[in-house]
Amino acid sequence: MNPPKDITAERAEPAAVNPDERARATEERMTDDERFSLLVSVMGASDLIAERDGRIPEGTPMSAGYVPGVPRLGVPALLMSDASLGVTNPGYREGDTATALPAGIALGASFNPALARESGGLVGREARSRGLNVMLAGGINLARDPRNGRNFEYISEDPLLSAALVAESIGGIQAEGVISTIKHFTLNCNETNRHWLDAVIDPAAHRESDLLAFEIAIERAQPGSVMTAYNKINGEYAGANSELLKGVLKGAWGYPGWVMSDWGATASWEFAVSGLDQDCGSQIDVLMWGAEAFGQPLRDAYANGGLSRERLSDMVRRILRSMYAVGVDRWGAAPGVDMARHHEIALESARQGIVLLKNDGALPLASDTTARIAVIGGHAQVGVPTGTGSSAVVPPGGYAEVTRIGGPSFMGATRNLYLLPSSPLAEITKLLPQAQIEFDPGMSPAEAALLARRSDVVIVFGIRVEGEGFDSADLSLPWGQDAVIEAVAAANPDTIVVLETGNPVAMPWRDDVKAIVEAWYPGQAGGQAIAEILTGAVNPSGRLPVTFPQDLAQTPRPDLASLAEPWGTPGTIEYREGAEVGYRWFAQQGEQPLYAFGHGLSYTRFDYSDLHVRGGDTITATFTITNTGDRQGADVPQVYLTGAPGGPRMRLLAFERVDLKPGESKRVIVTADPRLLARFDGQARQWRITAGTYQVALGSAADSLGPAAETVLRGALFGS
Ligand code: BGC
Repeated sequence: MNPPKDITAERAEPAAVNPDERARATEERMTDDERFSLLVSVMGASDLIAERDGRIPEGTPMSAGYVPGVPRLGVPALLMSDASLGVTNPGYREGDTATALPAGIALGASFNPALARESGGLVGREARSRGLNVMLAGGINLARDPRNGRNFEYISEDPLLSAALVAESIGGIQAEGVISTIKHFTLNCNETNRHWLDAVIDPAAHRESDLLAFEIAIERAQPGSVMTAYNKINGEYAGANSELLKGVLKGAWGYPGWVMSDWGATASWEFAVSGLDQDCGSQIDVLMWGAEAFGQPLRDAYANGGLSRERLSDMVRRILRSMYAVGVDRWGAAPGVDMARHHEIALESARQGIVLLKNDGALPLASDTTARIAVIGGHAQVGVPTGTGSSAVVPPGGYAEVTRIGGPSFMGATRNLYLLPSSPLAEITKLLPQAQIEFDPGMSPAEAALLARRSDVVIVFGIRVEGEGFDSADLSLPWGQDAVIEAVAAANPDTIVVLETGNPVAMPWRDDVKAIVEAWYPGQAGGQAIAEILTGAVNPSGRLPVTFPQDLAQTPRPDLASLAEPWGTPGTIEYREGAEVGYRWFAQQGEQPLYAFGHGLSYTRFDYSDLHVRGGDTITATFTITNTGDRQGADVPQVYLTGAPGGPRMRLLAFERVDLKPGESKRVIVTADPRLLARFDGQARQWRITAGTYQVALGSAADSLGPAAETVLRGALFGS
């Protein structure tokens, strides 16, 4: 899946030898006006902002953020675009479409860092060909709550899996000479009332969970910028949280890039003193807080000594440093963009991200079947849904359909059901040419049951609109779809359910259906990928990157008080699970989920054997995986820590995606990042490994562990 050489971006000049040196030299030659101009990013005219801001020169492509350059010093302007699932365009540039990738959670389900790299490269090339040089990508907030509206944009509930994939997608973007962010720093793990939520967490547990995901990804990929969250953390806004920005990010980790705010999240100029380097979406500051914080207020603070010259220089140098390190000042000719190949990447991502949750022998459907097949619901005759909010990408040819959903607050205006033009019904029809296929919209249980009853097999779709600004109230499917599925399953036992959701759902009909497929938001080739999985043209290989609970009572916060409050009501979320997120929480509580983290079925079988572990400073595990079935397929063996001195401790230490022919074996060797074996010692402000015996198990899911072994680790205090 490596891109052909000819479409990889070329640099006009070799990489800068020392970006810090260059940044210092450029900054020293700037006027104060030039310095301040780099600290504010304004939104372009779009569906949301009617008028072009006077600070954006005519002829500049509109985008989510514009920062003027300093031409006399060779400093280019910054043009920022959202890019979680591809290069977005919510009305900025007329007619401009881009490759719409599957959801981040689908990428998480692939457990495939190489695929993440490919997706990043795609985004980098499509950005660069449009002159956009900062991608607001790299969403890595851990899925702590299955109601969170934006879990689909992120990767998983696990710090290692999230970091491993996000690092590769950031690396893919930046290899094309385009800066990527990593976001949202940190604990923006719920959407409803996101501007007024205070995320309360034990600081050491924070280091072992969300912060660890950021730490590993930043180390591996060196993103040019870190975007702060909207919420507060332990009482302080993310953008003003000096403990996190100065203490952890820039201090302990030595992060050299710049910290940008989320759009309109800068309440005051004093955020600059706490570690924020750039105020973005500054027009929204005015709506939210009454003034552009880094405009006149910051200049006044500088004039009267509130902001030091040293800090002003530091803010500017950090921005310049990332420009030079990534090379946005050295672009040569724009890369050619092969949209057909990019479509293939979107298709391959969808294939690898779809998870087969349950299969009582109903799948795959034989390609020469002459059966009467009912396809029901989910707008399957039109296309596949994608998430709503800033990540929504307009695909080539435009959306198949946009239905306005709405809701309270100004976020309601941005909440839509977007359908991408890849119809599962059309693709199923193509792959099952001899079947007799009929479609029912799934509008009413009774009507859907009529078709189900006269069919041999039923494929029923369940979809949800999830996205920015809104959490789901519960785990049900909207618009009465659970009742439709129940009625269909009662009418025909050979029912297959295909879910297109951004989060786990409750599935009250689970025991009454033969097969369940979780396709997430599968992107612009999603209909094809779904049809290929259903018919066995592609062997399913996705594994759950999040735990599916049986109900909310099993999760750390059955009640989420902030959901009930009107927009603008301050609230607190106690992350009482600390670092025990997702499968770790279930292990600690002794609860059995509906489907566990790591779970996913295949049309072939795999066997794990010969597990050997070596200790010392960290754990290295070696094992053999064999495809014992009769089809080629990919599996994701997972190595878990299950016990440490002092008691049980569940933690994913390593994973590897392995593709095997029938009968083929592979010997796999993986080594754990020592931080996954350590606890963060809040007193010493270092990672501590306690000397002693550690237990490890090899499994196909967090609740399905096979061979086990133990080894001894030396005690250690390390990192910062
Ligand atoms: C989102 C960010 C996004 C920004 C710019 C905000 O509402 O939270 O993720 O990058 O808008 O569009």
